[in-house]
Amino acid sequence: MTYVTKLKLTFLTPGPLACLVFLAVLTIFSCPAGADNGGVIALQYPPDKVVKEFGLLNVSLSVPAGSADRITVRDNDREIITIVPDEKFECFAVPLVLGMNEIRIIAERDGSGVYDTVFHAYLRSDLEARYRTAPEGFRKDYFHDGAYPQCAECHILVPREHDKKPVSPDSFIAERFDKDTVISVTSTCYSCHRKMASYYPYVHGPVAVWSCLSCHEVSSTPKYAVKKPDTDVCFTCHVDQKNNWAGKKVTHGPVTLGNCAICHSPHAAPYPFNLYKATWDLCVNCHAEKGSGKHVLGDSFSTAGHPTRGKADPVKIGKELTCASCHDPHASNYPHLWAFDVDSIFELCRKCHYDK
Ligand code: HEC
Ligand code: HEC
Ligand code: HEC
Ligand code: HEC
Ligand code: HEC
Ligand code: HEC
Ligand code: HEC
Ligand code: HEC
Repeated sequence: MTYVTKLKLTFLTPGPLACLVFLAVLTIFSCPAGADNGGVIALQYPPDKVVKEFGLLNVSLSVPAGSADRITVRDNDREIITIVPDEKFECFAVPLVLGMNEIRIIAERDGSGVYDTVFHAYLRSDLEARYRTAPEGFRKDYFHDGAYPQCAECHILVPREHDKKPVSPDSFIAERFDKDTVISVTSTCYSCHRKMASYYPYVHGPVAVWSCLSCHEVSSTPKYAVKKPDTDVCFTCHVDQKNNWAGKKVTHGPVTLGNCAICHSPHAAPYPFNLYKATWDLCVNCHAEKGSGKHVLGDSFSTAGHPTRGKADPVKIGKELTCASCHDPHASNYPHLWAFDVDSIFELCRKCHYDK
């Protein structure tokens, strides 16, 4: 692994004084120094019952040399990661499923178990009602508000100026070039959050170039908090959208409230435009009755209904028909957020059915 901080390990071992400090600060922490031969494995992060918003959970485990030869990580009884430990700390990111994740870490040496621990993480979602509220006893944990001197041995914990590089939707192509060359070396956040930009296929511009501090505030409480409503953050860069939508007669419910991140991940997501769900599923998630097949025609003409998916979009060539073929997800000057400049339903039909 070509990893800069890895080099430091060979000549940096904390002295006895550092160990004392560590012990004073952290009850769960077993000091790596002196524990290098057959010492005790210990979970450094996270604590049990944390609430998460993004689908990856960072985990760090101290594994003194010789204490284990195989580590298995399971999530809800599914084996997801196997590690052959070769570091005194093994750090990895666990992909989470929505809702409850029971994460179990098992370590073995010469075929017999030497460590077995279980903790829980709840991946919540504003979008989906059944995952909106974490169970009793679960809470957010703010890693960056805690003291983790043991991590600083190998990672840089103090942000640098270039973690906030200017990145506008217009200059993005140039920034991307920057990414391919120097980003991974210059970003402070990269060493721990690196999977954030590679786990999901659709990555948001500023995340792709590791401009994390464009949104996260260094001197906020908790540290790295993001301003609310989302529009206060999103519109600093998406100025065209801001101006365009502000001039419209109607804005869509969640947009009116400034909740951009209810549909778009600020970081990365499985669907185009960094959406949490494919467009049709996204809309029906909140407008369930429109997924019944009765929409448009069925509502008013009591016929079989109008297709809302599974057909080619006659206007946006190459795309599939979805709810967004007729409705603008953000704003419009026309009734029902129609995506076309039309005032009547008949004109709307004619945008796609030229002959009718
Ligand atoms: C002994 C050195 C060392 C210490 C101490 C250490 N790390 Fe790491 N960490 C690494 C190395 C090396 C990597 C790169 C991962 C690899 O090469 O497999 C890494 C990677 C990571 C990652 C990214 C994992 C991934 O695969 O996405 C996270 C998260 C992380 N460390 C968190 C922590 C935290 C939190 C602490 C303190 C509790 C910590 N580390 C302490 C050496 C260390
Ligand atoms: C030593 C590794 C490490 C480094 C370096 C690091 N983080 Fe983190 N960060 C973590 C861990 C561990 C968590 C908690 C677990 C998780 O969210 O997966 C976390 C959580 C967060 C959170 C959620 C709030 C919190 O405090 O738990 C934010 C926001 C965040 N990091 C931003 C950043 C930014 C921005 C940078 C770069 C300036 C950065 N981190 C650098 C390890 C690190
Ligand atoms: C466009 C704004 C934006 C950018 C850029 C951004 N974040 Fe975030 N981040 C947010 C918002 C908003 C949240 C609040 C929770 C959410 O909706 O995911 C958040 C939450 C987080 C969390 C906590 C996730 C959790 O599971 O609770 C972490 C970790 C994090 N960000 C790390 C980063 C890192 C690392 C970068 C740079 C690669 C970054 N962020 C870039 C807006 C941003
Ligand atoms: C620091 C500047 C910055 C901030 C803040 C920012 N964005 Fe972006 N956004 C970008 C860049 C750069 C791109 C990439 C443009 C490209 O791909 O050419 C982008 C792309 C997007 C895209 C995808 C557009 C496409 O055509 O694929 C969406 C959706 C988006 N941003 C939503 C948001 C939301 C929601 C927020 C607030 C949570 C936000 N952005 C905050 C800079 C920013
Ligand atoms: C109800 C869900 C939803 C909300 C809320 C939402 N968006 Fe979108 N957004 C979408 C969908 C769906 C698309 C893709 C549209 C398409 O397929 O043409 C999109 C596309 C975009 C794009 C790229 C295309 C364009 O129109 O420029 C940007 C940028 C964007 N959204 C930013 C934002 C910002 C900023 C906010 C908050 C003010 C926001 N979105 C709120 C659903 C949403
Ligand atoms: C997070 C929930 C949510 C999502 C996702 C969502 N909507 Fe909405 N939508 C609302 C809310 C809230 C309103 C306002 C309700 C009201 O005023 O009665 C609304 C209103 C509307 C209206 C306007 C009703 C009218 O006649 O003025 C249309 C059209 C609409 N949504 C279409 C969509 C489409 C298309 C999508 C997918 C791109 C979508 N919605 C996704 C919550 C959502
Ligand atoms: C072929 C165009 C078209 C498509 C596709 C379409 N709609 Fe509509 N939608 C309309 C029209 C026309 C209206 C006006 C109300 C009516 O007469 O049915 C409307 C009205 C609405 C309204 C507001 C009125 C009400 O009854 O609450 C919502 C919300 C809505 N649509 C959501 C959706 C969702 C969600 C989808 C995707 C499942 C979708 N639409 C797909 C044309 C369309
Ligand atoms: C965004 C484009 C779009 C709009 C706007 C639209 N339709 Fe359609 N419509 C389609 C597509 C695509 C099909 C499926 C055609 C196929 O099966 O190949 C369809 C199918 C139909 C059908 C089934 C018969 C046929 O031609 O295949 C009827 C009837 C229909 N539409 C009526 C309407 C009416 C009435 C309106 C206005 C309320 C309307 N449409 C608005 C795209 C649209």
